[in-house]
Amino acid sequence: MMPSSTSLPLTFSIILVLASLAASQPIHEKFYQCIMLNSELSIPFSTAFCTPNNASFNSILQSSAQNLRCLGSSVPKPQLIFTPLVENHVQAAVICANELGIQLRLRSGGHDYEGLSYISEMEEPFIILDLSKLRSVSVDMQDSSAWVQAGATVGELYYRISQKSKTHGFPAGLCTSLGIGGHITGGAYGTMMRKYGLGADNVIDARIVDASGRILDRESMGEDLFWAIRGGGGASFGIILAWKVRLVPVPATVTVFTVPKTLEEGATKILYKWQQVADKLDEDLFIRVIIQVVNGAKKGERTVQTSYNALFLGRIDRLLDVMEVSFPELGLTRKDCIEMSWIESVLYIAGYPSKTPPEVLLQGKSLFKNYFKAKSDFVRKPIPEDGLEGLWKRLMEEDSPLVIFNPYGGMMSKISESETPFPHRKGVIFKIQYLTLWNDDKPESEAKHMDWIRRLYNYMAAYASMLPREAYVNYRDLDLGMNKNGSSFIEASLWGTKYFKDNFIRLVKVKTKVDPDNFFRHEQSIPTLPLMNEGREKSTFH
Ligand SMILES: Cc1cc2nc3c(=O)[nH]c(=O)nc-3n(C[C@H](O)[C@H](O)[C@H](O)COP(=O)(O)OP(=O)(O)OC[C@H]3O[C@@H](n4cnc5c(N)ncnc54)[C@H](O)[C@@H]3O)c2cc1C
Ligand SMILES: *[C@@H]1O[C@H](CO)[C@@H](O)[C@H](O)[C@H]1NC(C)=O
Ligand SMILES: *[C@@H]1O[C@H](CO)[C@@H](O)[C@H](O)[C@H]1NC(C)=O
Repeated sequence: MMPSSTSLPLTFSIILVLASLAASQPIHEKFYQCIMLNSELSIPFSTAFCTPNNASFNSILQSSAQNLRCLGSSVPKPQLIFTPLVENHVQAAVICANELGIQLRLRSGGHDYEGLSYISEMEEPFIILDLSKLRSVSVDMQDSSAWVQAGATVGELYYRISQKSKTHGFPAGLCTSLGIGGHITGGAYGTMMRKYGLGADNVIDARIVDASGRILDRESMGEDLFWAIRGGGGASFGIILAWKVRLVPVPATVTVFTVPKTLEEGATKILYKWQQVADKLDEDLFIRVIIQVVNGAKKGERTVQTSYNALFLGRIDRLLDVMEVSFPELGLTRKDCIEMSWIESVLYIAGYPSKTPPEVLLQGKSLFKNYFKAKSDFVRKPIPEDGLEGLWKRLMEEDSPLVIFNPYGGMMSKISESETPFPHRKGVIFKIQYLTLWNDDKPESEAKHMDWIRRLYNYMAAYASMLPREAYVNYRDLDLGMNKNGSSFIEASLWGTKYFKDNFIRLVKVKTKVDPDNFFRHEQSIPTLPLMNEGREKSTFH
């Protein structure tokens, strides 16, 4: 019934049908009827549509939502959660949302830091399009590639690859419950980024649904749009149905380690040294530093602990040689190191207890959920020891702070800033992620922790990249600014250049070309350029 190349005749029929529907009908019923008219297959109502009247509404809403801060009772709720079962339902959802003038929020893995995939603070009503049932993974060892549907988690992809080959992997996120759909739209880094770049750097094709409901692949969307979706952030250009990714070679045996150092054990000096070498180490070696406040040796005392958490694409002997030459200060020994297969290293880095069978990845579940707020920075000059000491002081004042230093260099510095929208490449030594976690829904708690992290971010300004102060779009941070009704792309460029540097303007141009009516919009979606869009009366945000 539905041609995939154009939606015009259908649109016409919907208008006729809609005109005959009672105006008082709730949005979810109108949407339901429209979907039934516009999809090729009949949809089993019980699984695909869920409204606040359904007993299962809260559990479906919360299912993949990762930030409990975005689920509180005061946070706006969708009128409907629509869970497509086939690609054509996604097309129908776009056509119907267009016709009904209702905003769609797109959700794949639900890990968005500000909950942008399941709440809308800027516009009500809204509907969630939940892609969690579109999650097939097909690995093709003939050409070392895989097609992965948006709702699959990265853990499922890793597992499926490992079932076909012990010597292939994919360089995306460390957290195994991330949805591949949203994750790659912002870049997608993991333990192999220094060797192979980002997940987005290893995408070779994609299937998307555009703002008029057409399904496009790389060839039919063209290179501008294909460029924009690989790092330009989620939900601005279209709905990713599936990515085609290039697998990368991994050794049959890799090595991992985690070495903690507290302040008493010389953490500050060692971390100062890590900053000199982190981006220059052998590309097979990725050492991140996880910084937390832990109980000290004496009762009632707290201290800062820096944990060096690493993946080495090789065996222990060579790793010890590399460390001896480049970073002897850590004092790594053979007994700190564990050899294992690549898929076991995925579980290790994600934090699963040892001996957990890799099949756990098929559950697609996250290991923990919290109330949290996070921010990011990129560092281009080592932070001096007194700068680190100021950071420790602030961490000690907070209940559950978490800071992660993530090394760059290697392949990350060989890819040019404009190759994809992700611009944080050459010259970046490491990225910092700051988090604060809490576990109750009291507004006072939230206010207190939000205030703490904002003050920390102010303090760190002196050590972070400047002009712009870069930020990672996959760590969405609405403190950096957001789209408002009537706001312009000039206002948006304040946060847009932090995420994308000079690529922001190209993203705006692509957006203006492919979605001039701003169908795909959210608090930090890429805005359209009004000047390129003459003859249209719509404001940038409506
Ligand atoms: C615990 C945790 C660990 C993380 N670890 C890493 C890491 O190791 N490396 C890393 O790079 N990042 C990491 N992240 C950040 C992560 O990459 C982003 O949150 C990413 O956007 C998550 O994708 P998702 O599909 O799970 O999230 P969602 O919340 O579903 O989506 C995120 C954004 O993309 C949009 N979107 C979702 N699906 C689609 C689609 N099919 N088409 C178009 N737009 C879509 C959403 O509307 C939203 O704006 C982590 C996040 C968390 C919470
Ligand atoms: C929601 O409620 C409707 C109407 O009672 C029912 O038909 C449908 O099966 C329910 N959906 C879910 C997901 O439980
Ligand atoms: C946006 O602002 C215009 C006037 O500036 C107003 O007419 C319109 O209703 C607003 N739209 C929304 C969604 O708030």
